[in-house]
Amino acid sequence: MNARGAGLCGGLILVLFTTAYAFDYVADGSWLKRVPTAEHGKANPYQGQADAVAAGRRIYADRCSHCHGENAQGTKKHPPLKSDRIQQQASEGDLHWILVHGNMRKGMPPWSKLPDQQLWQLITYLKSLND
Ligand code: HEC
Repeated sequence: MNARGAGLCGGLILVLFTTAYAFDYVADGSWLKRVPTAEHGKANPYQGQADAVAAGRRIYADRCSHCHGENAQGTKKHPPLKSDRIQQQASEGDLHWILVHGNMRKGMPPWSKLPDQQLWQLITYLKSLND
């Protein structure tokens, strides 16, 4: 490899590291602090129901899997949803809030156009991934 090639290669590695770091920083869960108390405590009407898990899984495959991964394992640019943050830290009300509002600044679209029933089905599915 000549000097120019080595320089390019080094530059590329630097860019890769910086983006990896930036994405790490992106999904820092800071949205959780913005959820109002009343929303945080909102109850999921379908909590733990098997048919809601199945419905949520279908909606997830349609709308969410291309960013968050087929099994919610996350992708390079998007956080996993099997994380402790989503499974333990976030209440179902918190998840409802982030789905309604999104976080466009960081690349998470809002889903307020979906019927509320579908949002809760999605949440039931996400919380079922902890089992
Ligand atoms: C265009 C890509 C994209 C799509 C589609 C998408 N998301 Fe996201 N999502 C993101 C990004 C980027 C973040 C990180 C936002 C942040 O850190 O505040 C995120 C964050 C989240 C979080 C919070 C994760 C955390 O660890 O803080 C949840 C929950 C979530 N998404 C659920 C969903 C669900 C459910 C769907 C489908 C209805 C969906 N997302 C569709 C990009 C996407």
